[in-house]
Amino acid sequence: MDLCGLDEVADGAGRAFRLGDEAAVPDLIVVRRGDHVWAYANNCPHNHIPLDLLHPRFVTHDGEWIVCSTHEAVFRFEDGHCEDGPCKGRSLEPVAITVIAGRVHVDPVPDPDA
Ligand code: FES
Repeated sequence: MDLCGLDEVADGAGRAFRLGDEAAVPDLIVVRRGDHVWAYANNCPHNHIPLDLLHPRFVTHDGEWIVCSTHEAVFRFEDGHCEDGPCKGRSLEPVAITVIAGRVHVDPVPDPDA
C-alpha cells in the first residue's frame, strides 16, 4: 500500500495516517530522520491510547525522540523503545514499511482488528 512520499514527512518529525475509513483516530505514525523512516502503531504502551491524544505532535522539539502527548514518554526512532516515562523499557509496535523510489509503502497492511 502506497502511503506517501518520503518528502511528505518532514525530516526530524512525524506524521499520522489512518489506514481504514472506520478508524476514529490515526492508527499509524511515520517518523523520519534524513533518508530513514520508521513506522509504529499509534498506540502508547503505557495506557494503550493514541500518542497524539492531547496534541498532534509526535516528536520532541529537538527532533530526537518520538513522544507521547499524554505523559510524555519518549521513544527511540530506530526501534520504538521507550527510554523514559511511565512505560520505560516497553516499545511501540513496529509496522513494516519500505521506501521505493521516494515513496513510503506499508507492507503488510496492519489488521485494525488485531
Ligand atoms: S499514555 Fe503515553 S505516556 Fe502515558
